[in-house]
Amino acid sequence: MSYNRKDLLGMSDLSAEEITYLLDTAQTFCEINERDVKKVPTLKGRTVINVFFEPSTRTRTSFEIAGKRLSADTINFTASSSSTTKGETLIDTVKNMEAMHSDVFVVRHSYSGAVKLIAENTDTAVVNAGDGLNEHPTQALLDLLTIRQRKGKIKGLEIAIIGDITHSRVARSDIWAMNKLGANVRVYGPLTMLPKYIAPFNCRKCTSMEEALEGADVIIMLRIQHERQGKLLLPSTREYAKFFGLTNEKLEIADKDAIVMHPGPINRGVELMTNVADCNRAVVLDQVSNGVAVRMAALYLLGNRKGGKIENAS
Ligand code: CP
Repeated sequence: MSYNRKDLLGMSDLSAEEITYLLDTAQTFCEINERDVKKVPTLKGRTVINVFFEPSTRTRTSFEIAGKRLSADTINFTASSSSTTKGETLIDTVKNMEAMHSDVFVVRHSYSGAVKLIAENTDTAVVNAGDGLNEHPTQALLDLLTIRQRKGKIKGLEIAIIGDITHSRVARSDIWAMNKLGANVRVYGPLTMLPKYIAPFNCRKCTSMEEALEGADVIIMLRIQHERQGKLLLPSTREYAKFFGLTNEKLEIADKDAIVMHPGPINRGVELMTNVADCNRAVVLDQVSNGVAVRMAALYLLGNRKGGKIENAS
């Protein structure tokens, strides 16, 4: 098995075998990240440009670290200080960066489908770092890697995703990938933040927090995506916390070995109470560490399309 695509745009495109191959490759990079000296020469001479049209802490930083650990030249493009503010189009911006002989573009954009549009208009490899409410594939991969490390498997697990499902690209990528790898997914949130029609996803819509948590092996809490909501869809954050926030008492309803995940940024006291966010069942910082390994895997597979074996990475 190998990854033979030009781009990594979404989990909806990928087969179970491709997802597993990406996870296995990322696991190899976890081992490299444990070493004292983490830098390997795999992408020496290659150029990775992070093209972010939306704010980011974890994704942008971890792609930059991943590129540097692979010895790529890593450049950060920030839309707010670029010529897009003077009216340059998205495609023109990308064509100009392509003309600088780049090897990989890592793109985040507020419009669903913008990253696919870029990929269709460049020969450079493109990684989707989050497009609107569509997909965030490397987040799904780091979530799956964390689950696989903690639970030893993905198939057959009961996974609860709770919060603003409608506006979450993380939820969409997670559910696509979890469906393909055979996990049982259930979702719960305010009616205004749950999709009316859940198809094409294979998951159960719950009608109470208790139903969502009962027997769950994995709980993924999501923040309210205010920036993607046309108008405020809830009366108050205090009320949201009461009905949809995860407390220690509610965590007792889940399996006794359930792990708690969150893609970040966490709104403490809203979807996740501080004592849950900091308890030993929360694996949020493991997710962040795995994010570097997953992004190393993505850059390695896309930035090294001329070949090379992972054994040569060191
Ligand atoms: N999880 C995630 O995408 O975080 P950032 O927005 O900080 O990159």
